[in-house]
Formats: sequence, C-alpha cells, structure tokens
Amino acid sequence: MLLDLAGPHRDDAYMILAGLVTPRPIALVTTLDEQGRINAAPFSFFNVLGDSPPIVGFCPGDREPGVPKDTARNIRLTHEFVVNLVDEAIAQQMSACAASLPPGENELLHAGLTAAPCEAVKPPRILEAPASLECRHHSIIEIGDNRLIIGEVLRVHVRDGVFDPETWLIRPDAYAPIGRMQSPNWYCKTRDMFEMRRPK
Ligand SMILES: Cc1cc2nc3c(=O)[nH]c(=O)nc-3n(C[C@H](O)[C@H](O)[C@H](O)COP(=O)(O)O)c2cc1C
Repeated sequence: MLLDLAGPHRDDAYMILAGLVTPRPIALVTTLDEQGRINAAPFSFFNVLGDSPPIVGFCPGDREPGVPKDTARNIRLTHEFVVNLVDEAIAQQMSACAASLPPGENELLHAGLTAAPCEAVKPPRILEAPASLECRHHSIIEIGDNRLIIGEVLRVHVRDGVFDPETWLIRPDAYAPIGRMQSPNWYCKTRDMFEMRRPK
C-alpha cells in the first residue's frame, strides 16, 4: 500500500504518521504568559535533538491557521519553557493538562499537579515529574501550521533515585516513562527492554 501525503492522503497525514512513528516521548511543557500565569500542555511531537549545546524540540500545531496554541504563544513572548517528562505515575494528570482551558487558566491546578521553582528560568517545573528540563527558547521554525520550537536545555532536575551519580546512568528500574502510541487514546509503558550490543 502506498500513501501519497502530498496528494490524496494529505488530510490523513496526522493519523498515518502519528500512528506509525511510535512510541513517542511526551513533553509536558510549562510556560508563563506575559502576566506570569502558568500554562501546561503535553506534546508528543517531541524529542531531544542534540547535546552540544543540549537542545530539545517540540511542535505545537496551530489551533487554526495563524492562531497558535497557548504554549507556542507564551514562548514567543517570554522565551522560556520547561519540559517535564512523563512517567506512569503522572499519566492521568498529563492527559488532564491537554484540556482546552481558556488562556490564562492554570492546567496544573486542574490536573492536581504542583508547580515548583526553577533555577535558570521563570516558568515552574512540575514537582511530580520524574525529570524536568529548564529551557531557553533558541528558535521557532514555522512550517505551515506547525511551529517547531527549539530550546537549549540549561538545567536538568531528576527525581532522587532515578539518576545514579556513581555510574552517570539512569536507573531503568526507577524510571518508567510512558510513550504515545496511536492517537488519540493509546499509550505504552516502557519496561519491556532488551539489550543489543553495537558492533565495533
Ligand atoms: C499525549 C498528548 C500529546 C500531544 N501532542 C501534541 C503535539 O505534539 N502537538 C500539538 O499541537 N498538540 C498536541 N497535543 C494536544 C495539546 O496538548 C492540546 O491541544 C493542548 O490543549 C494545548 O494547550 P495550550 O493551548 O495550553 O498550549 C497532545 C495531547 C496529548 C494528550
């Protein structure tokens, strides 16, 4: 079967690609608006993109042409954001943050999550998240309705016990991120891992 995303299947691109390119990590992004009001929303068009300097990228789509989601709007105005990673323990709360609340309404309160201070940026991190990345906006690339937001990671908060300070490795038994599968309602757990040595 061949699908032509530049032609007849253009309108199906989201369901096809978001279903095939799985599992995807989830960024629960916290920002502040110009008045300092907290916003939180999940994005699975997300990944770490490089390490020198350390950069992450995620991609809010516009609500309608020219109308950005609150997260993209806030970052354009305030230039800072926090990527909170999502594990099994906060899966439901992450999903609650996807509710379309009016601009300025705090999704963290709605979801029962706790805002905690950051060190290098003004937006809060989420206390319950297993890890949070304090980011300064680097660039926004607009491609059609997509706003690809790239940020430099300035600080990383990791829940005690997740990171092994002796080996500098994440402890797999202490970290249970979830992944996004078929949209809109499917997710996966990530405990079923296997090791494969890389050829020399
Ligand atoms: C797991 C999950 C992943 C999502 N990923 C994206 C995404 O990558 N891009 C996007 O535009 N919306 C995504 N959404 C939808 C947004 O979270 C939703 O539109 C949210 O209300 C945006 O909030 P904001 O206007 O406060 O930024 C996702 C929703 C869920 C539940």
